[in-house]
Amino acid sequence: MDALPMRMTAEQTMDLAPAFEPPSALWALLGAGGDALTPLGVDLQGQGPAAVIAGPPRSGRSSTLVTAARSLLGRGTPVLVVTPRRSPLRDLAGASGVLAVLDGNARSVTGGGADEFGGLPGALDPLALVAGHERYVVVVDDAELISPDSPLGLALDEILRTGRDGEHGLLVAGTTGDLATAYRGFAAEARKGRTGLLLNVQSPADGDLFTVRLPRGAVGGPPGRGLLVISGTATPIQCAVPQ
Ligand SMILES: Nc1ncnc2c1ncn2[C@@H]1O[C@H](COP(=O)(O)OP(=O)(O)OP(=O)(O)O)[C@@H](O)[C@H]1O
Ligand SMILES: [Mg+2]
Repeated sequence: MDALPMRMTAEQTMDLAPAFEPPSALWALLGAGGDALTPLGVDLQGQGPAAVIAGPPRSGRSSTLVTAARSLLGRGTPVLVVTPRRSPLRDLAGASGVLAVLDGNARSVTGGGADEFGGLPGALDPLALVAGHERYVVVVDDAELISPDSPLGLALDEILRTGRDGEHGLLVAGTTGDLATAYRGFAAEARKGRTGLLLNVQSPADGDLFTVRLPRGAVGGPPGRGLLVISGTATPIQCAVPQ
């Protein structure tokens, strides 16, 4: 873990391997790591349909989601953003390829929306927003603030379910403890893939989230430091800040 840089931008990270070809349109950059310090990410096509980004407050979860979303957008993959509370992801509103930025009640953070969804005036139906897109990723920050039984929670569950046979995926960020104790709904389903990030590991018990045994010395570190877990295998990573 000590060999990793303290801070890397997404651009610096991609410059580590100029010939790098993402394995699919649903591959999202997360950061840098590995023995040769190369770009690391998740392929929601091959390893998905979901990945979880877990960490304590201020561990770099939202910044990592922005990096991931921008890498998808930059390669032409549309993104639907869900932010139940303030998040740097909200700055993506209006960017090319961003289908919408919703709050925890499925209302657009930029206002507008005369529709009604799940009985909520002004709320937008996530399934309608992604309809007609063959390929897309839904990015959810602070997932523990979305009830699994709410209209939004149920829509995210549906998107995750259909992602198993489709070309779309879900990136879900939240607090390690809350995600580890989610036993039903979209967050619990997302966790079952055992793929994602553990940021600023607090104790070896954090591995329970993905039912993995963590390597020794994985605890702590600066913001953005953590373990990338792919199908249960953990690799130290320094996540990339958007810029
Ligand atoms: N990969 C990183 N490298 C260096 N600094 C980072 C990294 N990611 C985040 N930071 C810094 O850490 C702070 C928290 O980042 P961020 O908001 O992304 O974390 P968070 O876990 O979403 O926090 P919150 O609990 O407020 O939601 C910010 O000041 C940010 O600049
Ligand atoms: Mg955040």
